[in-house]
Amino acid sequence: MIDIPLLDLESRQSVKDQFTFEGKVALVTGAIGQIGMMSAAGFAELGANVVVADIERFKNQLDKLAGDLTAKFGHECIALTFDAADETSVQVMLDKIVEKFGTINVAHSNVGIGMPADQGEYDKNTWDRIMDTNARGTMIMDCALARIMKKNQKGGAIVNTASMSASIINRRPEGCDYEVIYPASKACVIHMTKGLAMQYMKDGVRINTVSPGYVYSAAHFEKTQQDITFNIETTPFKRYATADEVTGAVLYLCSDLASYTTGTDICIDGGYTIW
Ligand SMILES: NC(=O)c1ccc[n+]([C@@H]2O[C@H](COP(=O)([O-])OP(=O)(O)OC[C@H]3O[C@@H](n4cnc5c(N)ncnc54)[C@H](O)[C@@H]3O)[C@@H](O)[C@H]2O)c1
Repeated sequence: MIDIPLLDLESRQSVKDQFTFEGKVALVTGAIGQIGMMSAAGFAELGANVVVADIERFKNQLDKLAGDLTAKFGHECIALTFDAADETSVQVMLDKIVEKFGTINVAHSNVGIGMPADQGEYDKNTWDRIMDTNARGTMIMDCALARIMKKNQKGGAIVNTASMSASIINRRPEGCDYEVIYPASKACVIHMTKGLAMQYMKDGVRINTVSPGYVYSAAHFEKTQQDITFNIETTPFKRYATADEVTGAVLYLCSDLASYTTGTDICIDGGYTIW
């Protein structure tokens, strides 16, 4: 016999009760970017105390964001700066959260960079910066978060931002060069997430990824009109996503609704990877 009760309408858990972050502490990194900012707002709307974190250069914007979230949703939100590629900086930032709120229950580890020089030729600086931030930074963050979640004995959930580029190479107009390092770094994020999901399962920590397609954000502001048009035409939905179209998957994966889900990826790409 299996020791799991069959459910009926009386014994089922309310979906709404499982889709809340009341009393929880949520961390969102890369929070000044469009995707991170929308996650932070989502967590705050669903009841969490949210910590928004990004690089020192955005300190003023971060402080304003934390203040706006607190004012709009009524739960205390704070801002912290850090460098995702620096282990000490990550740990110092997380220690400040634990000191302030006691623990971290859920996190959207969302920092990621691409570089214009990533055009199919080996360049050490480009390789190091992208891999350090996207791949090594994700490993550092997830392991440090899992240690905190293990300690609080309630477990937790982490969502890493990968990309549709983890499983495909983005199409390019005829004759243009291809990004190589960024997609490789995001493939690393997806595969690493599976390993980390297994490693920290015993501690009650679930770890998953979201893989956005083209989301209109700062990363695209410097693209040429030709590139933007090409991206739209090669996406089956024939448009970019807005950042809040990624939010639902992040919140779902961090919520109790996803209690049986770990080591997996949700792709939000307007159909791009169907082809
Ligand atoms: N926009 C897209 O089309 C798209 C598509 C697929 C995946 N993604 C991924 O989504 C995530 C969010 O991207 P976005 O579109 O909001 O772009 P974004 O570039 O606006 O946001 C990324 C944020 O990360 C921060 N950051 C960069 N390096 C950091 C570091 N070392 N330490 C701390 N913070 C750092 C930046 O300051 C920025 O605010 C990234 O991981 C990105 O790779 C974006």
